[in-house]
Amino acid sequence: MDLKNHIRPVPDYPKPGILFYDISTLLAHPEAWHETIERLAAIIAKEKPDVLAGIESRGFLLAAPLALRLGLGFIMVRKKGKLPGKTIPYSYDLEYGSDTIEIQEDAIKPGQRVVMLDDLLATGGTMEAAVALLRQAGADVRMAACIIELNFLKGREKLAGLPVTTLIQYD
Ligand code: PRP
Ligand code: MG
Repeated sequence: MDLKNHIRPVPDYPKPGILFYDISTLLAHPEAWHETIERLAAIIAKEKPDVLAGIESRGFLLAAPLALRLGLGFIMVRKKGKLPGKTIPYSYDLEYGSDTIEIQEDAIKPGQRVVMLDDLLATGGTMEAAVALLRQAGADVRMAACIIELNFLKGREKLAGLPVTTLIQYD
């Protein structure tokens, strides 16, 4: 099955000149979505993770079914202020300004093997920050996995040395 056929390109979203790759059509197609999860599950299982980490919000769509499929728990990497109790925050620079993500303080035990999940790797800024946060918490981050990669933005280069798995690429 060519999963690319289930991604909907949306011109001029969120800004004029940007071509947005929408996974809504993939989520709405049970066979294609099942195939997406099965392909990622097979690759991720080889890393023998202890836990998965999903990045808010579209990364949750992957982390939840994959955790269930692989018999693992998953951690929510959330935007600041959304998680109760003590958290570990991590701030990173954006084109204009900065952003903060966080996990709960007890989410990770030192040395746990983690695979990171998000729907899409663009500039890699989001994934880079999430990896840095998990490492700060003591995680042994093994891999980043996404459905889509925008090759021309070279996000992979930001993740220097970390294995990156993506199912669909655009040049
Ligand atoms: C999108 C996408 C990735 C990120 C990729 O999330 O889901 O998380 O951007 O971009 P980057 O590689 O350039 O950092 P968005 O911030 O739009 O939020 P959402 O997942 O909550 O929709
Ligand atoms: Mg996102």
